[in-house]
Amino acid sequence: MLEQRIETHINDILTGDAQKNALDFVKCLRVSDMTFERGKGYWEDKHYWMIKYKGEFVCFILIGGDNEKDESWTIWSDDSGSNWFEDYPLDEHTKEIIYMNVDLCENCGGCIGGTSKTIFGKTFDIVCRTAFKFDNPDHEVVECTKKLVELRKKDIQKRLCGTDSYTDINALAIDEWADNDWEWSIPISREVFAEAKNGNWDVLLTPTKPVPHEWFSPFIHKNRLDGVKLLGLASGGGQQMPIFTVLGADCTVLDYSERQLDREREVAEREGYDINIVRADMTKKFPFNNNCFDIIFHPVSNCFIEDVYHVWNECYRVLKPGGVLLSGLDNGFNFIVEDYTVRPLVITNKLPYNPLKNPAQLKHTLDEDGSIQFSHTFDEQIGGQLKAGFIITAAYEDFNNEPDAIADGIPSFWATKAVKLQISGSHKYRALD
Ligand SMILES: C[S@@+](CC[C@H](N)C(=O)[O-])C[C@H]1O[C@@H](n2cnc3c(N)ncnc32)[C@H](O)[C@@H]1O
Repeated sequence: MLEQRIETHINDILTGDAQKNALDFVKCLRVSDMTFERGKGYWEDKHYWMIKYKGEFVCFILIGGDNEKDESWTIWSDDSGSNWFEDYPLDEHTKEIIYMNVDLCENCGGCIGGTSKTIFGKTFDIVCRTAFKFDNPDHEVVECTKKLVELRKKDIQKRLCGTDSYTDINALAIDEWADNDWEWSIPISREVFAEAKNGNWDVLLTPTKPVPHEWFSPFIHKNRLDGVKLLGLASGGGQQMPIFTVLGADCTVLDYSERQLDREREVAEREGYDINIVRADMTKKFPFNNNCFDIIFHPVSNCFIEDVYHVWNECYRVLKPGGVLLSGLDNGFNFIVEDYTVRPLVITNKLPYNPLKNPAQLKHTLDEDGSIQFSHTFDEQIGGQLKAGFIITAAYEDFNNEPDAIADGIPSFWATKAVKLQISGSHKYRALD
């Protein structure tokens, strides 16, 4: 017989706010790719589910308590023994809610009587195997449990982390930044959009310096890009693509963060235009045919991937002959110095910065902001474009958007314009191997 979904049981057993909150929590679990397994053994007759991500426990949910008439519901956190909740930075209010829901031992006999655990920086004695227990969580508490689910998911990904899944970790981290108004996730305003319609526009490849309009040559005519096929590569966030759309370009945006693409969708709906939105990981083959774009606009983003050669090769493949690739590049300085306000400047990391090859860097970067980023050399950034077959025809450098870095004249970014030459036959100009 087909197993009923947990939602059916929630609708049958719970009512009012409890039903709403439980459905909301389950929806979040589904969006986060969790799987649901009905409890066995002792739990067989109860409405009890084990929630897993990639085969590892994330939480447990009981709907309806011990008997059918009980309109309560409970969430327990995982009992994996992983210490994912030890010291992750959370705001004080969320921590207070969590502290009130630490699952302290009540001698139920399920274990030997609880252990001491550090929970978001605070130590508790006699904590059960499941560190948290939320009875009938209200809306605010459910929001907090969603955060915990996200942290546990990251914890699982961190341990499964190999070269295959680091981009998923980054996409999750960027989703979170986007939800917290990261500067590269704040869509342009109606006013900026309207100004672009009047011909006053700027776009950014790097933090502060606008791209010179002549960089769009030979495709720009009378300050417009009518009919130009443009790919915004790792360019979600609703910042650059709306401008290109106003200028008449036929735009496709590719990004791996759902939230960044949501921002893109929001602006398109707000301003009433069409845009092709593609969720894809740029470390994989691009989901486009050969020779199909005139311009690729690629703001600083390859710091989120390990192998940039792949991206240059794919850009070369999908650009039409004569097409241009405009890129923003991190030159690595940001990885050496992390805080420009500390004097004298402190060299925090040695280059190359590659957390996939350095466990200390992996811990550092995940603790810092939950993402896995990489420094790249001149050889990779510039040599890589040349090696793919591009000719670089223009370049400038730019600064981190931090007053101290600017005041000291320390550039952390480059922008390049590269052209895929129109040449007959299959010959490509290549940098020497
Ligand atoms: C600094 S932001 C650039 C976008 C920004 N709104 C702009 O226009 O300048 C970096 C972008 O790279 C995207 N990104 C990171 N890793 C990616 C990957 N593996 N594939 C595709 N996009 C990725 C992020 O989601 C983010 O939107």
